Amino acid sequence: MADLSDSVRDYPFRQRHLLGLEEYSRDDILYILEQAKYFREILDRPVPKVPTLRDKTIVNLFYENSTRTRLSFELAQKRMGADVVNFSASSSSTKKGESLKDTIRTISSMKIDMVVVRHESPGVSQFLTRQVEAAIINAGDGAHEHPTQALLDMFTMQQIYPDLTGKKVAIIGDIAFSRVVRSNVLGLKKLGAEVTLCGPKTLMPAYVDSLGADVSWDLEEVLGWCDIAMALRIQLERQGSKVNMIPSLREYHQMFGIRMEHLEKYPDFTVMHPGPVNRGVELQGAVVDSDRSVILNQVTNGVAVRMAILYLLSGGKRE
Ligand code: CP
Repeated sequence: MADLSDSVRDYPFRQRHLLGLEEYSRDDILYILEQAKYFREILDRPVPKVPTLRDKTIVNLFYENSTRTRLSFELAQKRMGADVVNFSASSSSTKKGESLKDTIRTISSMKIDMVVVRHESPGVSQFLTRQVEAAIINAGDGAHEHPTQALLDMFTMQQIYPDLTGKKVAIIGDIAFSRVVRSNVLGLKKLGAEVTLCGPKTLMPAYVDSLGADVSWDLEEVLGWCDIAMALRIQLERQGSKVNMIPSLREYHQMFGIRMEHLEKYPDFTVMHPGPVNRGVELQGAVVDSDRSVILNQVTNGVAVRMAILYLLSGGKRE
């Protein structure tokens, strides 16, 4: 059974919430990833359960659609013995006009220890920290941050390259409207990786220089350079009235889609994607299913990484 070395066990993790990776140090991130190794091994046991959160009640507050994040948080919570309540905006009193503030105060009155929140507005998780005592975990807020996704992405990269220092990561696609890219750049830079962002100029944010990553408009150039190629979905739901950011999805695939011909020409890079994938747009279907893709590993690792975060933010007492 995996256990933690004394140095890791003694790290003074002092974070109370997970709002984004901007507030987390390199050591905080490495500590979470180290803890996640322990929980990843638990998932492979015949009975993949621990009673770590058996006295905790957690609400999953989802105002936006989700498959991976929502299910993996719920699975992580149940694997750890927590009482779990799921809130979906589409079937709640939000539809009758109840505000977010009143909703969270109502839920908090039921003695909740932790809140996992996804919302279309940047900053909602920060707002909730001022409304309730519970620990808040950001499961994606608009185009701001998606910190648990970036942590599971870095965990998956570490399975290939245990030390990410100097590793070359290309993030390709809709940079402007992606929260995954922001959390990944923040986290990867703290771990010493080199990051290049690649996509159409219309999908590159005005503030791209402030992210601290290089920029390229040339897919072939970055695929020849990188160790990891992370493709991103075109976030049509966040582009709002800004239509025609790309001429067509077909043309986008021709310019920025990763295809089998790229895997053959550049034999070294690994393919990642946070999901959901639009096959035939950012990735050719055969690329998703190829042995160069670790997309399903990302999903499995997401449960372990979220177990580690829940454990640490609940006070870090393992049974
Ligand atoms: N990667 C991700 O956040 O996926 P979901 O929207 O399905 O949760």
